[in-house]
Amino acid sequence: MTTAPQTQLTQRADYTHKYNTRTGRHGWLRLTPAYSVKIVEELLRTVDAPRRVLDPFCGTATTALSAAYRGYPSATTEINPFLVWLGRAKTATYSDADIANTLDACAAALALMSANDLPPTPVPPLHNVERWWVPDALSFLQRLRTAIETVTEGETATHTLLSVAFCRTLISLSNASFSHQSMSFKAAGAQLSFDVGHDLAAVFYEDVKFVLDGAADNPRGECTVIEGDARTLPDFLNERFDLVITSPPYANRMSYIRELRPYMYWLGYLTKARDAGELDWASIGGTWGVATSRLTDWKPDRDAFACSMLDGVLRSIAHEGHANGGLLANYVARYFEDVWHHLKGLRRVLAHDAQVHYIVGNSTFYGVLLPVERVYAWMMRELGFDNVDVTAVRKRNSKKDLIEFDVSATWSGSWTERQSDVSGDRKEIHGPAPSLATASLTKAASLGTSCCSTSSTTQ
Ligand SMILES: C[S@@+](CC[C@H](N)C(=O)[O-])C[C@H]1O[C@@H](n2cnc3c(N)ncnc32)[C@H](O)[C@@H]1O
Repeated sequence: MTTAPQTQLTQRADYTHKYNTRTGRHGWLRLTPAYSVKIVEELLRTVDAPRRVLDPFCGTATTALSAAYRGYPSATTEINPFLVWLGRAKTATYSDADIANTLDACAAALALMSANDLPPTPVPPLHNVERWWVPDALSFLQRLRTAIETVTEGETATHTLLSVAFCRTLISLSNASFSHQSMSFKAAGAQLSFDVGHDLAAVFYEDVKFVLDGAADNPRGECTVIEGDARTLPDFLNERFDLVITSPPYANRMSYIRELRPYMYWLGYLTKARDAGELDWASIGGTWGVATSRLTDWKPDRDAFACSMLDGVLRSIAHEGHANGGLLANYVARYFEDVWHHLKGLRRVLAHDAQVHYIVGNSTFYGVLLPVERVYAWMMRELGFDNVDVTAVRKRNSKKDLIEFDVSATWSGSWTERQSDVSGDRKEIHGPAPSLATASLTKAASLGTSCCSTSSTTQ
């Protein structure tokens, strides 16, 4: 990865999800927090032999698909069932017959719609659905959904590929604007970029062709996409991995479910708002709906870990002058407790000399800088990783000091093998600190990321 000193960092659109829209399957559907294929490919190029690659936070399967195109076997885990479906669709192998059948099914679906007596699929129970689609677009989508279900059978390649194209179309026909960090709605006067008279069927047809172009380019490597919780990896991963490249959720109150709602409701992964809140609460960094009220009463597990640097920042966030300071401090504390459990379990699925790369962004709360990368680096050292290193990758914002980092480390495995119990609870990690590698500290210090300091340095 090309990196620059922190003072010379730029925003690097090529290191964001924007780069993916032009790259075949990677561009099938957008997720704003997806990272760039380019970052992943540059990291994959740093290893010279085929590796077993793991991405514990699959998202849109950027890592898994990149590894598969390189011919590396990979596994990826994800808590959101819609993203599991998408990851499987993106990493699957499609035959020429699958592609021909899908084109035929697309034609059959559109012909069925023109007959005009197709019963519409019910409007998805999405809050303020009329803000998402003007009536003609909504009616078109309802009939298109019925047509796809009529001409295809579930769980077939044809059904999958048409459903991916349907997801593209529902976003192109929507009033949603993705120009900000997250999704919002276009101004009322600027609704829909085409006329009602526009041929909506042509939009879908173009989306089908785009999806099929990507489907024709099959990856070589085997990939497994697993629905599971990254906090409990050893419970469902039986293999060991040599390379982890991942971008965990950011500690910035970004809700993935919020952005994915239209896809999830239309495809039946969500049927009511409460379920969206529950899924967000189950996710690391979830903050939406029911998650917000539960955070008020959330209490940290004092036996998990103690990091004075983090405690100092939490105290600053919780300052009485900050209206929701206590709630947001709980949000951050819960986020890192989850990350701790994730990293603790990760060690048990890593091979000897495994390398890990965590692409993370820092955040601010009430102007208090949360040095996310430093807390990750601190946790990795505490948990026995070696060569922990923090490298600035890009600026995330033109004005504020928000930066994306690669927190990398190696896992020798020997430290864990010396323990009688590898569960990694705090009481086990009193032994000789195995991981304060001098080189890492030097590099970290040069980035202003010394191992564990107080919050005063972060403000
Ligand atoms: C920043 S996104 C990953 C984006 C991905 N790198 C990409 O390029 O699309 C983080 C992902 O972690 C998932 N996630 C959150 N909590 C999780 C958990 N406990 N276990 C597994 N996945 C989780 C979210 O659903 C989200 O898809």
